[in-house]
Amino acid sequence: MADSGRAGTILEAVGLSKQFGALAAVNNVTLGFESGRVHAVIGPNGAGKTTFLNLLSGEMRPSAGNVRFKGQDITGAPPNRISRLGIGRSYQRTNIFLALTCLENCWIAAQSRLPSSMRFVRPAHRLTSVREQAERALATCGLAGRAGTVAAAMSYGEQRQLEIGMMLAARPQLLMLDEPLAGMGHDESLQVIDLLRRLAADHTLILIEHDMDAVFSIADRITVMVNGEVLETGSIEQIRGSPAVQEAYLGREDAE
Ligand SMILES: Nc1ncnc2c1ncn2[C@@H]1O[C@H](COP(=O)(O)OP(=O)(O)OP(=O)(O)O)[C@@H](O)[C@H]1O
Ligand SMILES: [Mg+2]
Repeated sequence: MADSGRAGTILEAVGLSKQFGALAAVNNVTLGFESGRVHAVIGPNGAGKTTFLNLLSGEMRPSAGNVRFKGQDITGAPPNRISRLGIGRSYQRTNIFLALTCLENCWIAAQSRLPSSMRFVRPAHRLTSVREQAERALATCGLAGRAGTVAAAMSYGEQRQLEIGMMLAARPQLLMLDEPLAGMGHDESLQVIDLLRRLAADHTLILIEHDMDAVFSIADRITVMVNGEVLETGSIEQIRGSPAVQEAYLGREDAE
């Protein structure tokens, strides 16, 4: 299932740009993500991090540039195709079905991303496989005991965990997470950090996060974005020691 290899670039942005009127939200970004690594993208509010993720995941079409997954051009491919290729995405604002149970939420996620070959499998077999996939995803995200609980009845932190579960139900190799810790309490954060660490053992992760302690504790590689551009990419030590990063981001009084 997952790609545990630690060699080579799995996803690549080449000269990627997104223009909103006069604003270059993402401006000529060229960046590679290595297979099996946790690559964090940080930067101040409005730096273009979410827009960048939207371009990588097919949510938005770039104004210019290309996205390559395992060498294949996926620029502008619709999100469902990108999902079937093995790329999962979670959102800055929680994106779950509040009226449905945890299992139902994961079930929908698992089913919506069935490969087309599964359409010809007998329904009973198909249902078992989807259910198993949904149950496995719930267990991995730490919500096995909440399968029958309606999402609306859970804490915000658990809802965010469920969103990660929905992403896992589609069995992606590459996970893109947009601020998975946003709005969480201390204990909930620690739980999700632990989950991300476990996922990192057999997935590639692209992580946008403002919580610097979390970033420094999980990431292998960090890219700093400012004003739609990549300011610097490097190891934790390189980013921590970078005067340009200090100046633009980490040293600022109002940096989150
Ligand atoms: N759909 C849109 N239409 C117009 N402008 C947009 C749109 N989406 C984002 N922007 C603008 O593009 C810039 C980058 O926004 P983006 O949400 O990508 O930043 P971000 O780095 O994710 O910020 P945050 O840390 O606050 O989530 C901002 O100035 C934002 O106002
Ligand atoms: Mg954002």
